[in-house]
Amino acid sequence: MLKIFVTATDTDAGKTYAAQALVKAFVAENKKVAVYKPISAGCMRVNNELVNEDALLLLKQSNCQQEISQVNPIAFEPPIAPHIAAAEMQKVISLTDIKKGYDEVITADADVVICEGAGGWRLPLGQGQYLSEFVQESCQNVLLVVNMKLGCLNHAILTYESIVADGLNCVGWIANCPENMPYLTENIQELTALLPIPKLAELPFELDISIAAKKIDLSPLTMLR
Ligand SMILES: Nc1ncnc2c1ncn2[C@@H]1O[C@H](COP(=O)(O)OP(=O)(O)O)[C@@H](O)[C@H]1O
Ligand SMILES: [Mg+2]
Repeated sequence: MLKIFVTATDTDAGKTYAAQALVKAFVAENKKVAVYKPISAGCMRVNNELVNEDALLLLKQSNCQQEISQVNPIAFEPPIAPHIAAAEMQKVISLTDIKKGYDEVITADADVVICEGAGGWRLPLGQGQYLSEFVQESCQNVLLVVNMKLGCLNHAILTYESIVADGLNCVGWIANCPENMPYLTENIQELTALLPIPKLAELPFELDISIAAKKIDLSPLTMLR
């Protein structure tokens, strides 16, 4: 089973967008793909249950008949840092629960499990813990989505260094380019030179996820297990 954790340089950087395209690309290769979005903050209330849009979007592209509550077990209503949302409700976010939820997903007989983080790499859970500890404990491969905008070189390099310092395999990066960044080509060239991992895609502004999916080079991932 191929396990991929999608992180990014920041929140709103294109994690969900790139993860949807990645799920679609694997499904197009006849893989069974399960998805996981352990923590979300910014949810709608549907029949008194909190439903997160990222989780819905990922579920829509996947093909493992998961329930939304399995895809996203920990959900908070306000779009704020999750550990603050938890504290507001006198709750704590438990790494054990996040890991338990993931163990359920990986028994779903999937070929590939795509997990979307929240925020950036070092997302605090409270109590001095970070979401990155879950990625370490579950030994996932990490895919870095870089939102191509001014400041992204620093964010991308720091994030890459952090992932590697955590002892994890950062298996590739995606240049997400929804905005018209001046000198985009030069910025992508610089990151290509500085990051010793393959660039799996350049994703321009595109509303059709099928088109984005076709731009992803899965070959560096299909060699992994
Ligand atoms: N390449 C792209 N083309 C079109 N829309 C994009 C692209 N990348 C991101 N978006 C949109 O930008 C917003 C933020 O991206 P999202 O994937 O939700 O970020 P994150 O999951 O990192 O918070 C979403 O509305 C998403 O659909
Ligand atoms: Mg998201």
